[in-house]
Amino acid sequence: MDMKTNNQETLIDNFNRVVDYVRISVTDRCDFRCVYCMDDQVEKFVPRAQLLTLEEIARIAKAFTELGVKKIRITGGEPLIRRNIIKLFEDIGKLPGLNELVTTTNGSQLARLAQPLKDAGVKRINISLDSLDPEKFKRITRVGELNKVLAGIDAALAVGFKKIKLNAVILKNRNDDEIIDLVRFASERDMDISFIEEMPLGVIGDHDRAEAYYSSDEIKKDIEEAFTLVPTTESTGGPSKYFKVTETGTRVGFISPHSHNFCDQCNRVRLTCEGRLLLCLGQEHSVDLRKTVRAYPGDMEKLKQAIRGSMSIKPKGHEFNLTEKPIIFRHMNVTGG
Ligand code: GTP
Ligand code: 5AD
Ligand code: SF4
Repeated sequence: MDMKTNNQETLIDNFNRVVDYVRISVTDRCDFRCVYCMDDQVEKFVPRAQLLTLEEIARIAKAFTELGVKKIRITGGEPLIRRNIIKLFEDIGKLPGLNELVTTTNGSQLARLAQPLKDAGVKRINISLDSLDPEKFKRITRVGELNKVLAGIDAALAVGFKKIKLNAVILKNRNDDEIIDLVRFASERDMDISFIEEMPLGVIGDHDRAEAYYSSDEIKKDIEEAFTLVPTTESTGGPSKYFKVTETGTRVGFISPHSHNFCDQCNRVRLTCEGRLLLCLGQEHSVDLRKTVRAYPGDMEKLKQAIRGSMSIKPKGHEFNLTEKPIIFRHMNVTGG
């Protein structure tokens, strides 16, 4: 369904939600193996021929902006390990009508790529950081080097990125003792931080999600032992509920799909690296845009039709349940968060 206002088309779903934000995953590969995200031994990544090319991704991004999308987030896997990725940022950064080009990264490549990202017009970066202790960091990411990520954060600050947001997934008995240190780390660098409840995407052999569950309310209580949190009404258009730390001015967000559902305000859809347009993070409803972009190269209207059509199958919301087997077999690296 679509609507015209000032000649600008808008994507609206059957629940009257305006979709103006697209998260594009450019690869399912990653140089880390976070315990909540992927299996240790992967298994099988998407073969090259099935990946959208960077040109195809740019074309789909253009179609979305012509349909009123204002914000595009580049995700992965780890987006910054895809070859020539900066070219895609440059192309999307030039699209008229787009207010915000942003990305979510694990930070491992930022020491090298922070400057080119800034030059391409990236407005904000979200960086995953679950621990400040090199040993624990390695245990959570299985292979990640904390030093590289810290150097990446320094680089992003040095080239002038503002409002960087850290993402921390808190797991009981793994990093729940670092919550205050993480808030302090963010505060000292004038960054925001979001704490995320783990979501049950894909079965992960050696990891029990119900056991690792640490709720946003518990995290908030922990923070309040050291800081004062004041609720704010600010929103980035994302699922974070934000508070301000009175002592430092830092914003602390909570992403709580279990304890606080936010589906009724959902404004986003996701494109996987294979060109599957997912209408909800927690459901399988999707439309194959790769088929369209390959069958009709250069035909924007066909692509736009496929996207408009997808609005009618956007589901009401997710049905996450930590104590049952995941109903979604995609791991997070496929969906892009
Ligand atoms: P902003 O655009 O700045 O609001 O960022 P964000 O928090 O939406 O994006 P980011 O890539 O930093 O993701 C942080 C966490 O939010 C990840 O774990 C995502 O999976 C989760 N997330 C993002 N969108 C949704 C959503 O629609 N539903 C659910 N359940 N989780 C989401
Ligand atoms: N549940 C919640 N968050 C997850 N992330 C990856 N997998 C999961 C999951 N199963 C987080 C990453 C990153 C963000 C994009 O998603 O840590 O910060
Ligand atoms: Fe890689 Fe991010 Fe998944 Fe960790 S959460 S394995 S950094 S894609």
